[in-house]
Amino acid sequence: MILPKSNLKVKVPPIKIQGIKTKLIPFIACSIKWDGKGTWIEPFMGSGAVGFNIAPERALFSDNNPYLIKFYKDLQDSKFDSQDVREYLISEGEKLSRTPEGADSYYYDVRDRFNKTHDSLDFLFLQRSNFNGMIRFGPHGYNVPFGRKPNRFRPALITKICNQIDWVKYQMQTHDWDFKVCDWKDSLANSTEDDFVYLDPPYIGRSTKYFGSWTDADANDLAFYVNQNLLGGYALSMWYKNKYRTNEHLDLWNGTMLTNEHFYYLGGKEQNRNSVVEALVIKDGYLANQN
Ligand SMILES: C[S@@+](CC[C@H](N)C(=O)[O-])C[C@H]1O[C@@H](n2cnc3c(N)ncnc32)[C@H](O)[C@@H]1O
Repeated sequence: MILPKSNLKVKVPPIKIQGIKTKLIPFIACSIKWDGKGTWIEPFMGSGAVGFNIAPERALFSDNNPYLIKFYKDLQDSKFDSQDVREYLISEGEKLSRTPEGADSYYYDVRDRFNKTHDSLDFLFLQRSNFNGMIRFGPHGYNVPFGRKPNRFRPALITKICNQIDWVKYQMQTHDWDFKVCDWKDSLANSTEDDFVYLDPPYIGRSTKYFGSWTDADANDLAFYVNQNLLGGYALSMWYKNKYRTNEHLDLWNGTMLTNEHFYYLGGKEQNRNSVVEALVIKDGYLANQN
């Protein structure tokens, strides 16, 4: 299999998440050389944006966030489709629009309900109306606040989300893809020399919370495990440097490092956006011709 080149037309999946790699997908896709004989393994799938666009024939998508995986498994198992999503968002969006932006927003009713039932459509609703598409859980469950704009679920947005659902569903139906809730180590345990692993762990040294914690020790453990045990290829996404410092953790990784500058959004205002250089470390033998 030849991975798509930089003219790949990137599509966005229905679930948003902080750290989504949408803008880096052409860079990632055209930097990797892999014959596609084995399985594409994505142990930190998040939104799934990278693998869904690269579209390998066989893939294992996993994450330790059970609700992300449940959402995609429910879609794969036809527990809902884009028509269900449309009807749900019209009706729930209408209820949201009738409430104010603050603590009395209908958003918080859906959030309470989600924390009891873990319904996939409620998860979608929260991810498309919360603050900045964040995913964050605390001791009492999902705790991201409302992102304002009670009338956000307008027909155009609902259609956009339904098209995203149809695209991912089509990809699932036409490829051999598996979705699994597990720690990264479990998804790598049976990997073979034919497989390719795309690693996009939470960034070291940032207090980004997803489902659980991610410590410096976890990041180092991942690097040691991959260096010692991984038989096939891999690519790692990680921050390389910002205007204050360079990421020394990258010294633990073997391979070739490519970089690509992009903007890291720290706040709504232009002056709060810090430029971060992103690294892609690729195991020797898996780097595409850079001409
Ligand atoms: C940077 S995000 C991945 C973003 C993804 N590449 C995208 O484009 O949407 C990191 C993901 O790692 C997951 N994660 C954190 N710790 C994990 C662990 N120990 N095992 C598996 N997944 C983990 C988080 O839930 C989150 O979805």
